[in-house]
Amino acid sequence: MRLLVTGAAGFIGSTYVRTVLEERPDDEIVVLDKLTYAGRRENLEEVADRIEFVEGAIEDRETVLEAMEGCDAVVNFAAESHVDRSISDQYAFVHTHVLGTSVLLDATRHHGVARYLQVSTDEVYGSIEEGSFTERSPLNPSSPYSATKAAGDLLVSAHVHTYGLEAVICRGSNNYGPRQYPEKLIPLCILNAMAGDHLPVYGDGRQVRNWLYVEDFARAIDLVLREGTPGEAYNVGGPDEEENIEVVRRILELTGRDESLIEHVTDRPGHDRRYSLSSDKVRALGWEPRVRFAEGLERTVEWYRDNEWWWGPIRSGEYREYYERHYGRSLG
Ligand code: NAD
Ligand code: DAU
Repeated sequence: MRLLVTGAAGFIGSTYVRTVLEERPDDEIVVLDKLTYAGRRENLEEVADRIEFVEGAIEDRETVLEAMEGCDAVVNFAAESHVDRSISDQYAFVHTHVLGTSVLLDATRHHGVARYLQVSTDEVYGSIEEGSFTERSPLNPSSPYSATKAAGDLLVSAHVHTYGLEAVICRGSNNYGPRQYPEKLIPLCILNAMAGDHLPVYGDGRQVRNWLYVEDFARAIDLVLREGTPGEAYNVGGPDEEENIEVVRRILELTGRDESLIEHVTDRPGHDRRYSLSSDKVRALGWEPRVRFAEGLERTVEWYRDNEWWWGPIRSGEYREYYERHYGRSLG
């Protein structure tokens, strides 16, 4: 197979590329990535000589058509992935998730590519107090991030219905693991705890997330790409649900810090209270998560402890300005 993988210089996409090359060393991979603040060539360093890398945006039709030439499948990870940033400035989200997805789908049709997988999120369903969302639950997104991701999903469905495109959608719950940009709760708190900085908890911290180790998500995506029924969506939820405050407490334990570092800060506007996915459909294809939260979190803390070369430059660059703007205080 020759795969076009977009957004693969990011956290999940780079894990996916490593997973595919481990499992099927003969597959060819073309990566198309715009290298936003979250996209980093070093995420693909270990496989650099086994992939073709194209720097470009999924909304740029000519670049996309060229990169897709000769491909058998497209896997679209490219996105603006941070909810807080979508609240303060939504335009890049609309551009990438709506226009970008439309260009990719149109190019897929143009080239007659056999398979397309859209990487999506549990956030398209909105918040749920009890029980879990299935693939038949209505889309009810809350933030500009999730609304534009839902728009991307609807464009995929439109291409299935109108043009018979063999596309599938994979909706994942909250991922965590090595190489996640430290604007997200888990890496942010690990790095802050290691530095002795405060850990910002939005509101009461009782919001619940369904944590999924990134390698488990990568395996699910690959399975759905190969075995999923065209036109269908598949939920991929992690094995454990945790309140944010519990996650933060565990990070403090693993880093040998005490709870005086916790600081409750102003809540995220429109903050979804709980996410929960039923993954029965992807489990029926043979997937199951291998990493429970306690083990995955330990591995993740260890990775950040051992890889300052990766996060050191981030903490001193654009991220520092973002942090000051968003949290109204500087990093220590
Ligand atoms: P990330 O921010 O780490 O990486 C996103 C990548 O996309 C970066 O390499 C960036 O440079 C690239 N990109 C952004 N805009 C682009 C554009 N217009 N054209 C080409 N490349 C572009 O994100 P992530 O956490 O790895 O998320 C990957 C995908 O998985 C996203 O679609 C996201 O919505 C989805 N998802 C994420 C999670 C999570 O918990 N992180 C959970 C479920 C689904
Ligand atoms: O659910 C899947 C989604 O998970 C993905 O689609 C998104 O791309 C990904 O960013 C993630 O979204 P969240 O908003 O859930 O992730 P984040 O790490 O930003 O926040 C996790 C929870 O922690 C959420 O309830 C908000 C809270 N939080 C976050 C930050 C950054 C805090 O309490 N303090 C913080 O400083």
